Amino acid sequence: MTVQLLHFSDLHFGGLADLDQIEGLEQMLPDLRPDAVVITGDLSQRARHGEFQRARALVQTAARTAPVLVIPGNHDVAWWIRPLIPFAKQPLYAKYARYFGADLAPTLALPGAIIASALTSHGVAWGSLTPRVRDLAVKGHLPKREFARVRGLFEAAPREQARVLVLHHNVLRGDISKRMGLARWRQAQRRIVASGAEVVLCGHDHQEGAELLGGRVVVSTAGTLCKRTRRGRPSTFNFVTIEPTAVHITYFKWDAESRRFRASDTYAFARAGKGAAPGAAPAPAPPPAQPVPADTTSHS
Ligand SMILES: [Fe+2]
Repeated sequence: MTVQLLHFSDLHFGGLADLDQIEGLEQMLPDLRPDAVVITGDLSQRARHGEFQRARALVQTAARTAPVLVIPGNHDVAWWIRPLIPFAKQPLYAKYARYFGADLAPTLALPGAIIASALTSHGVAWGSLTPRVRDLAVKGHLPKREFARVRGLFEAAPREQARVLVLHHNVLRGDISKRMGLARWRQAQRRIVASGAEVVLCGHDHQEGAELLGGRVVVSTAGTLCKRTRRGRPSTFNFVTIEPTAVHITYFKWDAESRRFRASDTYAFARAGKGAAPGAAPAPAPPPAQPVPADTTSHS
């Protein structure tokens, strides 16, 4: 059974949103015929009501085509409330929950896939702290309880369902930013591999990616649909096709001239333990990262 997922991220409604691109995506969404739409967080810029309200309109438009799974990113958390207090975190997510529901890590079951999400956006939390001040409320972390919950969901799922894990922060280092989205990222990567996930959908870095984690987990990192792209690159979203023996990730890039998204590169990966994928493995590898200085322009 083949499952097709439309994956986008980091809309940043508010001053940074690019409404031409949002409207372009809304128009072409039905033609893409996804089985589900996954939005990996940072719907808003400052967790404001108006930003969430526009994001909700997009979610409702998408929901006319396919079920939609949404999770909060670091920008959707009112992190300035109760910093470093580990309990009673609900006020941080109150506005987000008002528009997208109280479940901050929803699960969506399709005939061919179980799509489970993990909350990595915790505001100013002990687990997300790093020595760098500018990481405050930006970095995320993958708590042990989230890992255990997701692993349980994957273990209980029928064998024929592909295991898809959704989280906000990039789990691999950004090519341009040179940054990991998660604090304690080695531990987080070990947990992701141990969870049984076959495919990870994430965002946060504002640069698209299609890579392997631990030699076996396919990672789709969605770029951004806002004006804060890395080095002025075109905005992108990803289309992920999970076939019985292979996973394909296609980037759709914004073409400013024609004012529409166009399919560009496709990367293909054999599914671990599923045998060789015809014409798929290990095809074409993403271009090697160039030695560039760390990006200092943005907090994703
Ligand atoms: Fe983010």
